[in-house]
Amino acid sequence: MRVLGIETSCDETAAAVVEDGHKVLSSVVASQVDLHARFGGVVPEIASRAHVELVNPVVAEALVEAGAALDDVDAVAACHGPGLAGALLVGVSAAKALAFTADRPYVGVNHLEAHLYASWLEEPDLRFPVAVLVVSGGHTLLVVVEDHGRYRLMGETVDDAAGEAFDKVARLLGLGYPGGPAVDRVAAAGDPAAVAFPRPMLGDGFDFSFSGLKTAVLYHLRREPSANVADVAASFQEAVVDVLVAKLAAAAEEAGATALVVGGGVAANSRLRQRVLEAAEAAGRRAVVPQVSLCTDNAAMIAALAHRRLLADGPTPLDAGVDPNLRLPRAP
Ligand code: KG4
Ligand code: ZN
Repeated sequence: MRVLGIETSCDETAAAVVEDGHKVLSSVVASQVDLHARFGGVVPEIASRAHVELVNPVVAEALVEAGAALDDVDAVAACHGPGLAGALLVGVSAAKALAFTADRPYVGVNHLEAHLYASWLEEPDLRFPVAVLVVSGGHTLLVVVEDHGRYRLMGETVDDAAGEAFDKVARLLGLGYPGGPAVDRVAAAGDPAAVAFPRPMLGDGFDFSFSGLKTAVLYHLRREPSANVADVAASFQEAVVDVLVAKLAAAAEEAGATALVVGGGVAANSRLRQRVLEAAEAAGRRAVVPQVSLCTDNAAMIAALAHRRLLADGPTPLDAGVDPNLRLPRAP
């Protein structure tokens, strides 16, 4: 079974064709980063308009790269939430129109659940339960996946998402947008022990908090305006990674997980990737740290999840809408 997936929840217009839920035949991502950079963040109206312009060419490219015509796909899927309402509507409308035209089922899928599933694209035989950390610009979730479609939400952020903290600290450090990759790059030349930033909520359950850490960076820069940027970036990054990895490892321990898994844009962070591998090795568990293109927003994860959803629940009705605040489905 081949699924054409479309992702337009934020500032990437993406389309992919995935066979049998794990074989990626094509995955095309058109980033709008350049359009939003001068505003220092994603502007929803600009994102929606860009998706309208990009969605058809991106879908066409995904089909060409997969060597497939629309008639060769068995289902058309789109992310229907969470995300920006106008942006989601573009992908969902395109997917419904294509599904209707080709007389194929339409499948709407949850963006967070898709980030969870990205690791199954690389490791289709992953054994349950697994502990997954989804860290992106909008979300920070720690989840134990007990079986396909059975999620135990262990913790989430009580304020800023991890990626949001990276983006805000990058702005404080004058590193521009998007901030995560810039902090990662600059931190490579810094000393992670240079500044003793707090480790918020470490040892305190599975929830996260990053807004106090961002404020600690702000105060440090006010006290020491000529602080070494690389040292501050590395120390901030180390504080975030310490908390993320400790909680992921603790959740894996509590659930008896076979593997520690990461997903979402912040999982592209080089220090986080390294530390997750080390933590898994120390605990005698597997680590699944997917390639960066599967961590950041993409449509392969949408198509892969849609395959499972279609088999388990059947198609989504064409009159279903989008849900900007969609949550992760709970374990039944
Ligand atoms: O998953 P994603 O592509 O989009 C959302 O669903 O939000 O995540 C984007 C977030 C941004 O906050 C970006 O700064 C962060 O992921 N990010 C990183 C890195 N690459 C992207 N954060 C830290 N280190 C990175 N290398
Ligand atoms: Zn995302």
